[in-house]
Amino acid sequence: MSITGIKGFNDILPGEVEKWQHIEATARRVFELYGFAEIRVPVLEKTELFARSIGDATDIVEKEMYSFTDKGDNRVTMRPEGTASVMRAFIEHKLYAADPVAKLYYMGPMFRYERPQKGRYRQFHQIGAEVTGIMSPLIDAQVLTMLCHFFAELGLTEPRLEINSLGCPDCRPAYREALKAFLRGKLELLCDDCKRRFETNPLRALDCKSAGCKEATAGAPSVLDHLCQGCADHFAATRRHLEAVGTAYTINPRMVRGLDYYTRTTFELVTRLLGAQSAVAAGGRYDGLISDLGGPQLPGIGFAMGVERVALLLAEREFRKRPDLFIASIGDAAQDEALRSG
Ligand code: HAM
Repeated sequence: MSITGIKGFNDILPGEVEKWQHIEATARRVFELYGFAEIRVPVLEKTELFARSIGDATDIVEKEMYSFTDKGDNRVTMRPEGTASVMRAFIEHKLYAADPVAKLYYMGPMFRYERPQKGRYRQFHQIGAEVTGIMSPLIDAQVLTMLCHFFAELGLTEPRLEINSLGCPDCRPAYREALKAFLRGKLELLCDDCKRRFETNPLRALDCKSAGCKEATAGAPSVLDHLCQGCADHFAATRRHLEAVGTAYTINPRMVRGLDYYTRTTFELVTRLLGAQSAVAAGGRYDGLISDLGGPQLPGIGFAMGVERVALLLAEREFRKRPDLFIASIGDAAQDEALRSG
């Protein structure tokens, strides 16, 4: 019997790969226009990097990481996302010493042990971008505008941009308590996952797809009503800047990201065209991550898109390359000449 590939790990064959090359080339062109430079980081990192940055109580760290002990007895993980590795490299190589502002982009495979379905795989590919060192909401608007610019360059009118603010360590604890107080009487409605993480991560119930969680969270307090003055001002200014440049968005106060490092602005580019996997790209601010990983106190913001999902949105388009010239030789004597001309 012949050996097949592993479930959730895909081959990208000629015919399809041209679409990927077009997506990657468009990202490079657009991101470099905005002053971003490429960074390449390894696929394998110490497990603790992801536990510390993404968070112990997240689905990714709890259930989805490809982790193992290598022959030297080290706990290592195949990266489930790029932000943690890029920030690790930023800190390790002291990129901030020359300039605290770095604009970096990356592309490559990521690994999560999720249940494979259309648009969701165990090896998938991200193209991401990260900016360090800028607190101003102007950068939130610029990063979002660049992301929408990228989709416009691909000729895609889907996906739509949704934004939210998750507050900061000053105001989020009070919101968590308000949400917990609201949900406490409805715990039996929550799905098993949300029940289990009610104490550690109650916000996840807000964007859980289960019918019970939807019913339990109907009418729940909104995070946007609990922002401290600094976070509320930041969100209002981000919105103003987006409007000034004409980047269309809607506010989704129920958007909760599956990674713990986010603060303030969070966002997703969503589509109805991919069934359950509605997020084509997602990201946000992470003002505490760099210092949590042992670096200087610098803010950060970024996003990553799922290349498979972008490719699905481009499904109908033809990117296959055709030869410009075809030389046909007639007779043996012409073969070597044709080979030379080719
Ligand atoms: P994320 O929301 O976990 O964020 O992933 C970003 C995107 O990667 C998703 O919107 C989706 O398009 C794609 N994606 C995620 N999991 C899968 C999967 N199993 N199969 C196919 N595509 C998938 C992050 O990873 C953050 N690092 C984004 C970020 C960058 N935040 C700040 N900077």
